Amino acid sequence: MPLTTTEKMLAAAKKNGYAVAAFNCENMEMIQAIIAAAAEMNAPVILQTTPSTVNYASARLFAANAAAAAEKADIPVALHLDHGNSHELVKDALDAGYTSIMIDGSHFPLEENIAFTKKAASLCLMAGIPIEGELGHVGGKEDDLESAGAGYTDPEEAVRFVKETGVSSLAIGVGTAHGVYAKKPVLNPQLISILKERITVPLVLHGASGLDDEVVQDCIARGISKVNIATDLRIAYTQAVREYLQKDPGCFDPKKYGNAGREAVIKLTIKRIKICGCQGRAGEIN
Ligand code: 13P
Ligand code: ZN
Repeated sequence: MPLTTTEKMLAAAKKNGYAVAAFNCENMEMIQAIIAAAAEMNAPVILQTTPSTVNYASARLFAANAAAAAEKADIPVALHLDHGNSHELVKDALDAGYTSIMIDGSHFPLEENIAFTKKAASLCLMAGIPIEGELGHVGGKEDDLESAGAGYTDPEEAVRFVKETGVSSLAIGVGTAHGVYAKKPVLNPQLISILKERITVPLVLHGASGLDDEVVQDCIARGISKVNIATDLRIAYTQAVREYLQKDPGCFDPKKYGNAGREAVIKLTIKRIKICGCQGRAGEIN
């Protein structure tokens, strides 16, 4: 199928009480693996790239790879800009054919975050593409953005943020962090329940790598509709490639170790899709 937007995917997830898994991809093999796993699970899926991933190649190159891989699959696939950090990058991704955008102004004070996000939202609205904003923040390090601690989302501010920016979905701070957890995160799952009551747009959980399966499922039961997974997949891909090359140090065919990485990503993606409860849900989105 052609790439679809995240709008209907997340609406169906919110309505039916599961989450769409959103996987960060870094190269062609990961794109292929994520789509193959989702097709096997008959699940809708979101591929996403951070600004540094876009810079590694280009928005056009990722969009072309994703569109070509999605074309052959019979499930809805969206391509999302993750943690977009400038309006120029948003425009670039929209021009390249991305079907979903995130703008991350969570490091700004509230007023600035609203203004920054609102401007990006108007660009997306003109293009008919949904946009995710972030309020509160996710700890850890994603791309070049490092955050000391987690910032829990304030419900009053969240109501105002959604109303004034016009975002289609909201990434919230509930204690998770990007990257490998050095110590157990202090989550506030109750906050998800509170936000779900007050916010009409779908809620997004960042920093899902390294969380216990039951914790992710509890967050989904309380109202999360999109779960972001990056680090776990990067580790799985890299470990598989490393192991392949250690076993066969004479190998110089990128297809061989690339295939090992791809297989590892397929396996892990299937597991995460099951945890999010989105297997068998492809037909709900039209
Ligand atoms: P992890 O790297 O912790 O899985 O975080 C993913 C994420 O939030 C991407 O935006
Ligand atoms: Zn994130």
